[in-house]
Amino acid sequence: MSKETVLVIGSCGQLGTELVEALRSIYGDAFVIASDVQKSSNPVFDAGPFESLDILDQEGLSIVLQKYKPSHVYHLAALLSATSEKNPDFAWKLNMDGLFNILNAARDSGIIKKVYWPSSIAAFGPNTERFGTPQYGTMDPSTIYGISKLAGELYVQYYFNRWGIDTRSLRYPGLIGYKSAPGGGTTDYAVSIYHDALKSGEHTCFLAEGTTLPMLYMPDALKATLEIMHAPAENIKIRTSYNLAGMSFAPEEIAASIAKHIPAFSIHYEPDYRQAIANSWPAVIDDSRAQSDWGWKPDYDLDKMTADMLLNLRKHYKLA
Ligand code: SER
Repeated sequence: MSKETVLVIGSCGQLGTELVEALRSIYGDAFVIASDVQKSSNPVFDAGPFESLDILDQEGLSIVLQKYKPSHVYHLAALLSATSEKNPDFAWKLNMDGLFNILNAARDSGIIKKVYWPSSIAAFGPNTERFGTPQYGTMDPSTIYGISKLAGELYVQYYFNRWGIDTRSLRYPGLIGYKSAPGGGTTDYAVSIYHDALKSGEHTCFLAEGTTLPMLYMPDALKATLEIMHAPAENIKIRTSYNLAGMSFAPEEIAASIAKHIPAFSIHYEPDYRQAIANSWPAVIDDSRAQSDWGWKPDYDLDKMTADMLLNLRKHYKLA
C-alpha cells in the first residue's frame, strides 16, 4: 500500500475503534490518524497518532489537516438513532454540520481526495418496502437520525457531482462486534444480548418479539468499508449510499442461536421508545448493487457470528 495518510474522525465509537485497528494493519500505525472529542482508554489508540478533535470546530479540523495532510478521511462522528431522538436539535447540528465541515474542507483545502461517510438503514421509513428493500425506493425516514442520513446521502452525491470529491458511502445495518461497545442505537440490543448471556444467562430486550432488523457482523462491516474505499472509482456507480446486507433476524432468533451454546439462556421483552424506531425500518435489505458493482459478499450468518462472539467474549470475561 502506498504511503497514503488516513484520518478517522469519530474514531472512539463502535465502528471507529475497530476501523482504526484495521487501517493501521494496512497503512502502518503512523499513517492512520485517529481523532475524537475525547481519547478512549482502548490501547489501540496508543499505537499511533491521536488528535482531540471536535468536528464542529472548523479551525481545529484545518489544523489537523495541515499537520498530517490526509488524503483519505473516514468521517464517522454522529449521534445514533436512539440518542438523536433525545436531543434532535444537537443531533441535526452534529450530523449535518460535521459532514459539511468535512466536505467543505475537501473542496477547499485540496488535501483530502476521498471521503468515506456512513449512512444507515435509518434513511428508510415506514412506507419503504420492508422485505427486499430496494436500492432505489420509498425513503421517508421518521427519525431525526434517519432524516440526517437521507439528507447527508444527497449532499455527498452533490459534492461528488459538483466538485469531484470522491465520496463513498454504505447504508449500514445494525453493527455487532465484541471489541467495542455501541452507543445509542436501536440495534444495540443485539450486542448486549451476548454480554448478558455470558454474565447472567438472561436478557431483557428493549424490542418486541418478531422485530426483524438487518444486521452485520463487524468483520463484514470492516471488509465492506475497506472494499468500497479501495475499489476503482469507476466501479462506484452509486454516490448517495449503497444498500448493504449481512443477515436479518428478530430477537427470538438471536436468542435461539445463543441457546445452541447456552441451553439455559432466556430472553424477556420490555419494548420501549426504540420499538417505534425499529418498526419504521426495513427488515431485509436487497444489496444486489453492492454485489454487482464492487463484489460485496458477507462471510457471516447468524450462527457463525454467534459462535465467534461467544468465543471471544468468553475470553474477554475470562470464562475460557
Ligand atoms: N445501528 C444504528 C442505530 O441503531 C443504525 O444506523 O442507530
